[in-house]
Amino acid sequence: MKFRTSLISFVFSTSCVAAQNLTAPQNLDAPTIESLGNNSLFTRWRPRSHFIAPAGWMNDPCGMMYDPTRDQYHLMYQWHPYHVNWGNISWGHAISQDLISWTDVGGWEGNNAEALAPGPVGKYDGLGIFSGTAQPVNLQGEQDGTLLIFYTSVSRLPTNWALPYLNGTESQSFAISNDGGQTWEKYENNPVISRPPNGWDIPGWRDPFFEAWPEMDHMLGQSEHHYYMAMGSGLKAVGPRIPFYSAPANNLTNWTFLGALWEPADNTSLGSFLETGSYGFNFEVSNFFSLEDEDGDVHYYVQMGTEGGNVTFHPRPQWGLWNEGLISRRTNGSAQFTPVAGGAVDWGLLYAVTSFNDTKNNRRVQWGWAPEEMNDFGITQQGFQGAFALPREQFVKITKGLVNVDGNLTTLGNNRLIEHNDGTFTAYTLGVRPLEDVVIGIRNSTMQRNYPGGHINTSSSSFNGSIHMEIMATFRNFSGSAGLSIAASPGGEEYTTIYFDPETHTINVNRSRSSKIADFSNYTVVGYFLPYTFAKAGIEDITMHVYLDGSLLEIYVNERFALTTRIYPSRTDSTNFGFYVADGASAKIFNVAAWLDLFNIFPERPLNSSSQLVYDTAEQTNNYTWWTGN
Ligand SMILES: *[C@@H]1O[C@H](CO)[C@@H](O)[C@H](O)[C@H]1NC(C)=O
Ligand SMILES: *[C@@H]1O[C@H](CO)[C@@H](O)[C@H](O)[C@H]1NC(C)=O
Ligand SMILES: *[C@@H]1O[C@H](CO)[C@@H](O)[C@H](O)[C@H]1NC(C)=O
Ligand SMILES: *[C@@H]1O[C@H](CO)[C@@H](O)[C@H](O)[C@H]1NC(C)=O
Ligand SMILES: *[C@@H]1O[C@H](CO)[C@@H](O)[C@H](O)[C@H]1NC(C)=O
Ligand SMILES: *[C@@H]1O[C@H](CO)[C@@H](O)[C@H](O)[C@H]1NC(C)=O
Ligand SMILES: *[C@@H]1O[C@H](CO)[C@@H](O)[C@H](O)[C@H]1NC(C)=O
Ligand SMILES: *[C@@H]1O[C@H](CO)[C@@H](O)[C@H](O)[C@H]1NC(C)=O
Ligand SMILES: *[C@@H]1O[C@H](CO)[C@@H](O)[C@H](O)[C@H]1NC(C)=O
Ligand SMILES: *[C@@H]1O[C@H](CO)[C@@H](O)[C@H](O)[C@H]1NC(C)=O
Ligand SMILES: *[C@@H]1O[C@H](CO)[C@@H](O)[C@H](O)[C@H]1NC(C)=O
Ligand SMILES: *[C@@H]1O[C@H](CO)[C@@H](O)[C@H](O)[C@H]1NC(C)=O
Repeated sequence: MKFRTSLISFVFSTSCVAAQNLTAPQNLDAPTIESLGNNSLFTRWRPRSHFIAPAGWMNDPCGMMYDPTRDQYHLMYQWHPYHVNWGNISWGHAISQDLISWTDVGGWEGNNAEALAPGPVGKYDGLGIFSGTAQPVNLQGEQDGTLLIFYTSVSRLPTNWALPYLNGTESQSFAISNDGGQTWEKYENNPVISRPPNGWDIPGWRDPFFEAWPEMDHMLGQSEHHYYMAMGSGLKAVGPRIPFYSAPANNLTNWTFLGALWEPADNTSLGSFLETGSYGFNFEVSNFFSLEDEDGDVHYYVQMGTEGGNVTFHPRPQWGLWNEGLISRRTNGSAQFTPVAGGAVDWGLLYAVTSFNDTKNNRRVQWGWAPEEMNDFGITQQGFQGAFALPREQFVKITKGLVNVDGNLTTLGNNRLIEHNDGTFTAYTLGVRPLEDVVIGIRNSTMQRNYPGGHINTSSSSFNGSIHMEIMATFRNFSGSAGLSIAASPGGEEYTTIYFDPETHTINVNRSRSSKIADFSNYTVVGYFLPYTFAKAGIEDITMHVYLDGSLLEIYVNERFALTTRIYPSRTDSTNFGFYVADGASAKIFNVAAWLDLFNIFPERPLNSSSQLVYDTAEQTNNYTWWTGN
């Protein structure tokens, strides 16, 4: 069943006009939203400078790669076209020349951008094409223009770490393109890996992440080049795991299971829970890669989505975490990963964070999925759910000459620490920043505006902003919590504050006044951020780099902190911004700049690219046990 009805054609259909009223009022309330038809709020909170599916449900980023034979980037995503909830999951696909603007492969209408769809029910991938990665090589590892996707094929549902695992649910499969990604063929001998490691009682086993990796060949004493693969998995009632595999580079169908990288226990934390998050009970979307620092030393990292962890200060039971680890060779020839530092890849809701080697620019680029926080309210009116955060560069961030104030620079925390004879420390952490070329690209023709700062001791939101904007500001001399106020209505009815709290070493996003509509999430998002103190220069300044793009709010701090969250103001005039200082507090604020009306990164799509929504039948959903149907 395929619907190709574009918005234009159904707006003008005469049946149920009221249900398709696109004129949403400037000030919304919950009863009004409930009275509106499907897609009537499609453009209301929709990001446009962030990667997003044309319409419908999207989750994990997958299959990103740079194709050197065509000088083109690919980015794919978990997709359920014509539906606002997860189900019958396929891969959507877009390409780009520059990582800034994107084109839907096949076109934006309906499900035209679908690259890979589930096979017939009952087959190895009949119930879902789960996440995976891609490489611009053929099955013999040769760069001849062939593109290769490695994905998780799903034949049974439901699957969830907390449910009994249905034997045979997941296997790992290839799809191949010989025309630059316009069309894909599933590999004839799928699945390529049909069973989890022997003896593993798994909560899940998915999301193959595979790369050529010369450093690992060297580490494991391999004279022949190999590809390596990490996956997300676990052992029930024991702990989450990253199973590690290799294949000779000239035969990518010959995978050998090497072992688990390390053995964390269920619901534990590397260091303090506040600083390093919870490993949970199962890993998903796991990465394993190395980065060279500016001194030429190689650092090894894992990155993983963790499920089911403690929700005491992180109310979502899913985390995106990273760990740096020391690598040694196990007696069986596998790699042993011993974590020495860690933290959150993103302290907010970003999940299924994955990365690829942008070989054109020799950098590691990461994308993650930003779910909505609408609590299922108004989702058919919105007509889609999900987007990606900006593409981010991950790099080894080295900071020298630090002192350890109050013992707060901890081992097994956010930094790997080297202590020197003079008592100072060098800190190594996993740096993160939005890609510099993308930052500039989405400013496109918008002008930088500068704003007065100074020694501020009262809150204000008097600058005119927009719903698609970027803000930068630097803060110093905190005598209490201070930061920015954004998305503020002129009368102060709605606003969102983003502030650093020097007492608790946290960056907070207070959403209690973000929207008059009480149905949307309004808890304060909290992320750990310990400012560095230099022996010579004292405490570092804090530079907040903020993107507001519809409901999507991203905050970067000092190239080592990222936090993504969502806000859904009820008013269209909630666009002002300014400063926030807690009662009795003050801070010095300077270098305040903003860019309004950021670039639309899908220039070939109309802003309203909605599709007609459908409800699946009981037959298509096995009586709504596989997915919800809408
Ligand atoms: C559409 O919604 C607007 C605002 O709620 C309302 O004024 C208008 O009458 C509606 N139009 C139709 C055709 O229902
Ligand atoms: C699951 O599959 C394995 C291997 O195919 C088999 O040994 C085991 O008995 C199966 N378990 C169940 C519960 O069917
Ligand atoms: C598969 O790869 C292993 C090394 O990883 C090698 O020993 C074995 O011979 C290969 N098998 C085939 C059929 O190529
Ligand atoms: C590649 O490996 C697979 C799986 O081990 C094996 O069946 C196949 O024969 C190998 N191909 C070649 C060309 O060695
Ligand atoms: C969650 O973490 C908090 C803070 O560390 C702790 O007090 C609480 O006992 C933990 N809860 C569970 C269920 O592990
Ligand atoms: C990307 O891959 C190339 C080729 O294997 C390698 O030389 C380079 O170090 C990698 N870059 C990153 C950032 O991983
Ligand atoms: C670290 O910081 C916290 C919060 O400011 C403080 O309470 C604590 O005493 C400090 N020192 C150590 C060793 O945790
Ligand atoms: C801005 O976007 C337009 C349209 O895509 C493009 O032609 C132009 O080169 C971009 N300008 C800059 C400065 O990137
Ligand atoms: C915050 O959300 C809760 C539900 O989670 C709701 O009961 C409460 O009214 C909301 N508060 C505000 C100020 O909207
Ligand atoms: C609205 O969407 C639901 C599925 O969420 C669908 O069942 C219904 O038919 C749609 N209504 C119209 C008028 O298209
Ligand atoms: C899943 O989607 C595919 C293609 O988009 C479609 O052919 C298939 O019928 C759908 N399966 C179910 C069970 O709805
Ligand atoms: C589907 O569920 C309904 C209500 O729970 C039940 O009456 C019906 O028998 C089920 N149908 C099938 C095919 O399982």
